[in-house]
Amino acid sequence: MINYKDLGLVNTREMFAKAMKGHYAIPAYNFNNMEQLQAIIQACCETSSPVILQVSSGARKYANQTLLRYMAQGAVEYAKELTGGKGIPICLHLDHGDTFELCKSCIEYGFSSVMIDGSHHSYEENVELTRKVVEYAHKYDVSVEGELGVLAGVEDEVSAEEHTYTQPGEVQDFVGKTGVDSLAISIGTSHGAFKFKPGQNPKIRLDILAEIEKRLPGFPIVLHGSSSVPQDLVKIINEHGGKLKDAIGIGEDQLREAAKSAVCKINIDSDGRLAMTAAIRKEFDEKPAEFDPRKYLGPAREMLKQLYMRKNKDVLGSAGHAED
Ligand code: G3H
Ligand code: 13P
Ligand code: ZN
Repeated sequence: MINYKDLGLVNTREMFAKAMKGHYAIPAYNFNNMEQLQAIIQACCETSSPVILQVSSGARKYANQTLLRYMAQGAVEYAKELTGGKGIPICLHLDHGDTFELCKSCIEYGFSSVMIDGSHHSYEENVELTRKVVEYAHKYDVSVEGELGVLAGVEDEVSAEEHTYTQPGEVQDFVGKTGVDSLAISIGTSHGAFKFKPGQNPKIRLDILAEIEKRLPGFPIVLHGSSSVPQDLVKIINEHGGKLKDAIGIGEDQLREAAKSAVCKINIDSDGRLAMTAAIRKEFDEKPAEFDPRKYLGPAREMLKQLYMRKNKDVLGSAGHAED
């Protein structure tokens, strides 16, 4: 058993309390490799922002859970180096955990926060599974995110055509019965780079969010699927041989609005993928004789860092809050 506190990581409890009070949201960025992790830590140190590092099942398969945990541990030291010894609050979070066993193994391995995503089960099964994870996690002061409602698109390799919006009438019962520390809700965001079809109204249901907030005053809410699919990045990709047709995301103004409310955590992964792909495609196209990976992964890392610095400042509002 490795406790995250010995690794210099923090859980989400204090982060969310401060974010709620300060009307901003904590960035939850996914990482799968060293360049992504460097870009996230550099961006958050330079903007003085707390951060949640997310590890998905896909990341665990791609990079290995052991390596990712050691990388996160290294990130704590790296952040100190970049900030003259002060560091920034870093949480290591399991993204879309789907079983009790997986959550347990991450908790035992030094994660400071886990998501148990029971949203594809019946309400009763979701309550039971989430409650079991909370009971175990809280013994070690690990925070737990649950989910109610189903996002459209592919989630946990399960694909849903339509959004099943979170029913505000269920949230109090769910939080009361499970004891979760935060709740992911479905209000029209979705995973990936194709969130809306051309001609659709790319709006999220802030009215449902307000209704949920009324029933759970002061309780941390999480938004998944919150990439905005910046069109300048899509353009670079398509100008250099890519074929991303009709890639549409959530408007950054809507996310900024949500971040001022009870939304304390905003998950972003696809935008980072677009940034890296844009830089790599451009390098490959413009320098076809180059074959040193550092020559294209370096620009990709820089593009990602710039994107996340901008998100922290202009979208999440978390910049300047590392020392709250
Ligand atoms: O929730 C989805 C995240 O973007 C992670 O995706 O499972 O492909 O790593 P992944
Ligand atoms: P995006 O695909 O919109 O970046 O969402 C990421 C996410 O929700 C990770 O859990
Ligand atoms: Zn997600």
